[in-house]
Amino acid sequence: MTPSAARMPVAVIGAGAIGRMHIERMLRHPDVSVAAIADPTPAARTLAESLGLAWFADHRELLEKSPARAAIVATPNHTHADVGIHCIERGLPVLMEKPVADTVENAERLCQAGERAGVPIMVGHQRRHNPIIQRARALVNEGVLGRPVSVNGMATWLKPDSYFELAWRREKGGGPVLINLIHDLDLLRFLVGEIDSVQAITSSAVRGYEVEDTAAVLLRFANGALGTLAVSDAAVTPWNWDLAAGEAAHYAQVSVDTHFLSGTEGSLTLPRLNVWRFDGQRGWHEPLTLQRNMLHRQDPYIEQLRHVRAVAEGREQPLCSGRDGLRTLRTALAVHEAAASGRGVAV
Ligand SMILES: NC(=O)c1ccc[n+]([C@@H]2O[C@H](COP(=O)([O-])OP(=O)(O)OC[C@H]3O[C@@H](n4cnc5c(N)ncnc54)[C@H](O)[C@@H]3O)[C@@H](O)[C@H]2O)c1
Repeated sequence: MTPSAARMPVAVIGAGAIGRMHIERMLRHPDVSVAAIADPTPAARTLAESLGLAWFADHRELLEKSPARAAIVATPNHTHADVGIHCIERGLPVLMEKPVADTVENAERLCQAGERAGVPIMVGHQRRHNPIIQRARALVNEGVLGRPVSVNGMATWLKPDSYFELAWRREKGGGPVLINLIHDLDLLRFLVGEIDSVQAITSSAVRGYEVEDTAAVLLRFANGALGTLAVSDAAVTPWNWDLAAGEAAHYAQVSVDTHFLSGTEGSLTLPRLNVWRFDGQRGWHEPLTLQRNMLHRQDPYIEQLRHVRAVAEGREQPLCSGRDGLRTLRTALAVHEAAASGRGVAV
């Protein structure tokens, strides 16, 4: 491991659930260290003290006083744009947790601030850093699908009742479309290409909250492919990327596929990376060939932290830029708009 003096100090703003996941990895990361933590809660202060890290209640004080050379913004969505802009004003490259902001207007404000200052913005769609997705992208680019035709994805699972004790998770904006499905939309944009339009229906029939618990979505891609996505946090199923891909140890991993990409030459399943195609004659009476692709596992959050430093040092371009995150946000918001209007919505 590189000596700690060589590690880049990175500020963590917001030390809740995901902020703590970043901190835990930064403590043992060869490329970055925790410069300081900003979060007003007593729990965050206790955490910082227990780790011997500098703590600030206010992120602006952190930005003044800490030696941070980049920042991770892991605060609630409605604060993202303002906190991110404060970091940019200090010249700090930022990793914004997803969604990049709560509204298109705020995301636009943030992106423009970054562009004006020449400071890079990254968005925490960490699946892009997963070697499974990297390999899938390479396979698609090598042409295993041929021309993409259809895409099907599942993001269904059961969240515990205790999850909904926080009021915002029962209210508009707090549901599985903006919290979970946004990752699947980003994944499909990354693998298959831009999504031009969506149709959707949503339901809150199981939980009965203001926010949806289930949604069914139709997608039209710019390359002509069509897709379907189902999301629910109220169903007992294993068909969810977080359960199947093994990205975080707090989920018990299941051995199933959750995303199915099909084209004129073959098809590809995720996360198991099975490729189906014809080796000889083509046609429904002919036997298909299955190719399995094995990979070393790698923690995408660790890889994302390596990337943060590389971007901050100008060695890499953001894998998911602010603008890219904004397009994914637009797509997720279009799902809500389509469900509310009962019409197709152009993204
Ligand atoms: N990439 C992922 O898979 C993933 C997973 C979970 C959450 N997230 C995103 O991360 C963000 C945080 O989610 P969470 O589940 O950790 O929420 P959380 O409520 O557990 O934590 C947010 C923390 O931010 C603190 N905070 C609020 N305002 C602040 C401010 N101005 N300055 C400093 N700290 C502030 C709060 O005190 C809290 O501790 C959200 O945008 C969420 O969508 C991403």
